[in-house]
Amino acid sequence: MTLLANPFRKTALALATAAAASLTFSVQAAEVEVLHWWTSGGEARAANVLKELMEAEGYGWEDFAVAGGGGETAMTVLKSRAMSGNPPSAAQIKGPEIQEWGELGLLGELDEVAEAEGWDELLPPTVADVMRHNGSYVAVPVNVHRVNWLWANPQVLAAAGVEMPTTLDELFAAGEAIREAGYIPLAHGGQAWQDATVFESVLLASGGTEFYQQALVELDPEALGSERMIEALETFKRLRELMDADMSGRDWNIATSMVIEGSAGMQLMGDWAKGEFTAAGLTAGEEYLCAAAPGTQDAFTFNIDSLAMFRVEGEEREAQQALARLVLEPTFQEAFNLAKGSIPARPDLDMSGFDVCAQQSMDDFQRTAEEGGLVPSMAHGMAVRADVQGAIFDVVTNYFNSRDMAAEEAARRMVNAAQAAL
Ligand code: BGC
Repeated sequence: MTLLANPFRKTALALATAAAASLTFSVQAAEVEVLHWWTSGGEARAANVLKELMEAEGYGWEDFAVAGGGGETAMTVLKSRAMSGNPPSAAQIKGPEIQEWGELGLLGELDEVAEAEGWDELLPPTVADVMRHNGSYVAVPVNVHRVNWLWANPQVLAAAGVEMPTTLDELFAAGEAIREAGYIPLAHGGQAWQDATVFESVLLASGGTEFYQQALVELDPEALGSERMIEALETFKRLRELMDADMSGRDWNIATSMVIEGSAGMQLMGDWAKGEFTAAGLTAGEEYLCAAAPGTQDAFTFNIDSLAMFRVEGEEREAQQALARLVLEPTFQEAFNLAKGSIPARPDLDMSGFDVCAQQSMDDFQRTAEEGGLVPSMAHGMAVRADVQGAIFDVVTNYFNSRDMAAEEAARRMVNAAQAAL
């Protein structure tokens, strides 16, 4: 008689296996699955802070990382997962898109956590508003990124005999000197969202905050088709002179590494770039420099990362609520933002442990909020809905890469892009 042919033996085995399985089940931690696109060196260090904090509280973390700067690919993957009825527990969703997901009825509420933790008092009203759908919290902010920054390698600037540029004219002049000294003036990655990131800073510098607001937030056709828009587009295109021939398709963090290594002098990018300088062990203000994008000292284009919560049940919901609570606690806000390059989403934290760039960001955030220079980033999903943003990206990137499209034509297309989406 073989072992398996023995019915008693078989039953005993089955029982033992079932017992072991239920044992594993009962000790297995409740888990959250979190979708994000934090995959560069600095971003991954930051995401790890949240994973470790969750694990320290006894919860499991299933990482759902989808590479691709700016998050377009992540959003496509999220849509297909949600459509198949299997969304993650939480996902990095921003600005007006939170409302779009809320309207689909797919988000779960966080009101109990929000009340217990006093979010209404903790968060600036402008931030809290974005996190609510139909009056309930459905998302939690992790940080505030500033998009209009210029980063530079001080050794390259010194070799070219130039200072950090403060106006667009100075940027072009410094760029020329850097080129003559044998370096790439401006590191850039030719991807639509990076083109749009640079474009919005140029538009802000050449047109001013009010114009930025009219054109890229209110989508006013007059502003979109105006002389000022044409001028901004032309200046933006001139920046190609400062970029290198191999920029097409390059990831943003590779562009940042060119500044870190000293093959390029500068980069126009949001302060997630600071996460890369930090991960490389460099000191802000000494081994790398930061300044408001030339000509935008009085403005702050904000980009708030947030985790929106999907409607989930049981243990997963319990873990999800813990995740939401942890995100706004000082421990997470400090450790995450030190690694990420951003500033905390809650304004009450002590900034003395942060570097000079983060401190400047916090000061500028508060100053521009009072003086009226605080504007949402179009390129990073804070200003307009995703379809309009996509249409504007197409115009910006096609114009930037076209040999013969005139700025007038690009401005006309900009008006159409905004109208088609209304
Ligand atoms: C996000 C950042 C991210 C960056 C690059 C931005 O849209 O807000 O968190 O680091 O894209 O991927």
